[in-house]
Amino acid sequence: VLKNFTLFIEKDYNEMSQRAANIFASAVSKNPSGAYGFATGSTPIGMYEELVKMQNKSFDLTKITAFNLDEYYPINQHDPQSYFFFMKKYLFDPVGLPISSTNIPSGAANDPVAECVNYDKKIEAAGGLCMQILGIGANGHIGFNEPASELFASTHCVPLSESTITANARNFASQEDVPRSAITMGMHSIMMAKQILLLASGDGKAEIMKKAIYGPITTEVPASLLQLHHNVTVVTDAAAGKLL
Ligand code: PGA
Repeated sequence: VLKNFTLFIEKDYNEMSQRAANIFASAVSKNPSGAYGFATGSTPIGMYEELVKMQNKSFDLTKITAFNLDEYYPINQHDPQSYFFFMKKYLFDPVGLPISSTNIPSGAANDPVAECVNYDKKIEAAGGLCMQILGIGANGHIGFNEPASELFASTHCVPLSESTITANARNFASQEDVPRSAITMGMHSIMMAKQILLLASGDGKAEIMKKAIYGPITTEVPASLLQLHHNVTVVTDAAAGKLL
């Protein structure tokens, strides 16, 4: 494994989630009022459940500032498919983190470009991210930075790739209901995080994890850019880690 990577391959989803929660909690214990970057998707749910169990016992998640990677566009906050709804349900409400301490790009912004510019300013004003949690798409995306001939540094609006629309359709009534765009943090805010915590679970992620960690650094596999980050912790279950 690359020098700047720490790799944990755990037995199953539960152990992956516990490991990731412990790593995250120890970062928060060192900097209880720092800014932390969160991700949505099926992968981090177990980790968030662990953090909820750990809240108050071993650490306090109510003093942090939260920034999420991305949000669908357009979407209403109250839509159960919105990432705002997801974070409130799995993490913010159960740990008691006030919504005023949380930041997610607004899927309902009238001026999405202004929303993007503003989002980067907020991350900067918070002093950057102590740790960014990431999942990975089977196509190698992080956030909604999709494989392409170029990637963007700043928070930006992005059309979703066909493969992402298909993958995310499982959460919607039909594929037509998946929003066609998103607002996502760009590569700069992700790469400037002091530490990256990348999670992957299941067979479907095994190939892409190998490409991300050992393959060429290419915009066609956005996660491969993490090879250039100085402090990456990767936690997988056995299935997603089988080629590492
Ligand atoms: P998943 O999504 O955790 O639902 O697999 C990961 C991603 O697309 O980033």
